[in-house]
Amino acid sequence: MASFSPGVQDEMVIILDFGAQYTQLIARRVRECHVYCEIVPFDTPLDEIRARQPRGLIFSGGPASVYEDGAPRCDEAVYECGIPILGICYGTQLMAFHLGGVVHSGEQKEFGHTELEVLDDTGLFAGLERKLVCWMSHGDLVEKTPPGFVSSARTEHTPVAAMENRERRLYGVQFHPEVVHTPWGTELLRNFLINICGLSGSWTPASFIETAIEEIRKRVGTSRVVCGVSGGVDSACVAALVHRAIGEQLTCIFVDHGLLRLNEGRQVKKTFEDHFGINLDYVDAEARFLARLAGVTDPETKRKIIGEEFVRVFEEEAGKITDATFLAQGTLYPDVIESGTKNAAVIKSHHNVGGLPEDMNLEVLEPLRYLFKDEVREVCAALGMPEDMVWRHPFPGPGLGIRIVGEITKARLDTLRKADAVVVEEIKGAGLYRQLWMGFAILAPIRSVGVMGDQRTYDDTIVLRAVTSEDAMTADWARLPYDLLQRISNRVINEVPGVNRVVYDISSKPPATMEWE
Ligand code: XMP
Repeated sequence: MASFSPGVQDEMVIILDFGAQYTQLIARRVRECHVYCEIVPFDTPLDEIRARQPRGLIFSGGPASVYEDGAPRCDEAVYECGIPILGICYGTQLMAFHLGGVVHSGEQKEFGHTELEVLDDTGLFAGLERKLVCWMSHGDLVEKTPPGFVSSARTEHTPVAAMENRERRLYGVQFHPEVVHTPWGTELLRNFLINICGLSGSWTPASFIETAIEEIRKRVGTSRVVCGVSGGVDSACVAALVHRAIGEQLTCIFVDHGLLRLNEGRQVKKTFEDHFGINLDYVDAEARFLARLAGVTDPETKRKIIGEEFVRVFEEEAGKITDATFLAQGTLYPDVIESGTKNAAVIKSHHNVGGLPEDMNLEVLEPLRYLFKDEVREVCAALGMPEDMVWRHPFPGPGLGIRIVGEITKARLDTLRKADAVVVEEIKGAGLYRQLWMGFAILAPIRSVGVMGDQRTYDDTIVLRAVTSEDAMTADWARLPYDLLQRISNRVINEVPGVNRVVYDISSKPPATMEWE
């Protein structure tokens, strides 16, 4: 697959990944300093790295021990390139090992919050306090710095919590500046990037737009591009960007599977056609999806059916655009980094609207493949996308299909849609929408007895789910104000026929997940 570089390459930093849990976080922090960076595997040939002309290198942490057989090691010639290097945890141990220092397995392993004493505050620690709290997570440590290095910070059990060789511009820290538990970590990274590497720190996600547009034009030429859109921010961003680059040569396909939120199909159509003037092929496939889902209750079977049917409808529509050569997709950087490296157990087989049908014979165009989600939002705002779409909560590809526990019917979908609209409206009204990862309604397979007027009811239960999260991997239930909970409950029960009970889900992830299916 052709790579797609997002511009301003004269100011880029490369992060060598030695297998740390936190490598993505390093990239995020570097970008927060307005420096463009990319992550590459630790064994990327040095020539390839140099060809990119990085202005700085960062070695990530990793689970290995430097003396272990098979421990990940980079080319030792990297230290002779004259490019400033910052090692983090394992990256520091490797630098010490390569350059003649002593690394050993600490008798006292350090995990979590640790007090740090700064010994020299003129390099990495410039402008920071002398006593700091950092976050450690290591077994091995540098016992003796390599020749030419000084220790610039220590902790109770780590004599070399940071080491510096100013002359050669080689630096290492044993702690993790990239995690939130090292609150001044970004300052340290900024010292490295701006003061030591001499970068200007002027990169912004929006500054990528012009270069991206040029690249799209160059690659696509006069060909036609199709793009699956879902109403979500990623696919909308791709569509807006590609449209700005090639206008009429783009056709977007929007498969309405009937599992969308209230009025969502209409809104998407309006934004694409009226606001952006994009060719939109709106496909009403509700009947097809509901027919195939009739009687199905198992979550994974639902996902499989929705995914398969989606690809089928999409293929049929795309097939009508006979001169299409490219398929534009909203792949983001976390997917690029994770693909192929993850061996995690399948909890849910996520299906993304717009996912590539394998045998479509179209070239893939992924202009967002180097951006994180929040950066995509910045790009969208710079492209003039309506706020409502820029900040829309994530919505799963299978839509409300996995928010109805049990069988999906048109009547149950209508109930859920109405309840969900109340939830979202109230959360927005309370000014809390942007603080949540998601806030939505679930239709539980439970009916219970109630009393309305003088009548007995035996009606449905709506579950309110509202979560905060940084990255969707973990989440906490949102502490919504009681008066908001009360308004949601009153309105749902009064306004949604067939519902007589609202409950609030107070489970975190893990062990629960955000969606119920
Ligand atoms: P879970 O339920 O796994 O959700 O904690 C984490 C995030 O992923 C979204 N999600 C999906 N997105 N296809 C998608 O495109 C799916 O099948 C799917 N399942 C969950 C969920 O909405 C949340 O933001």
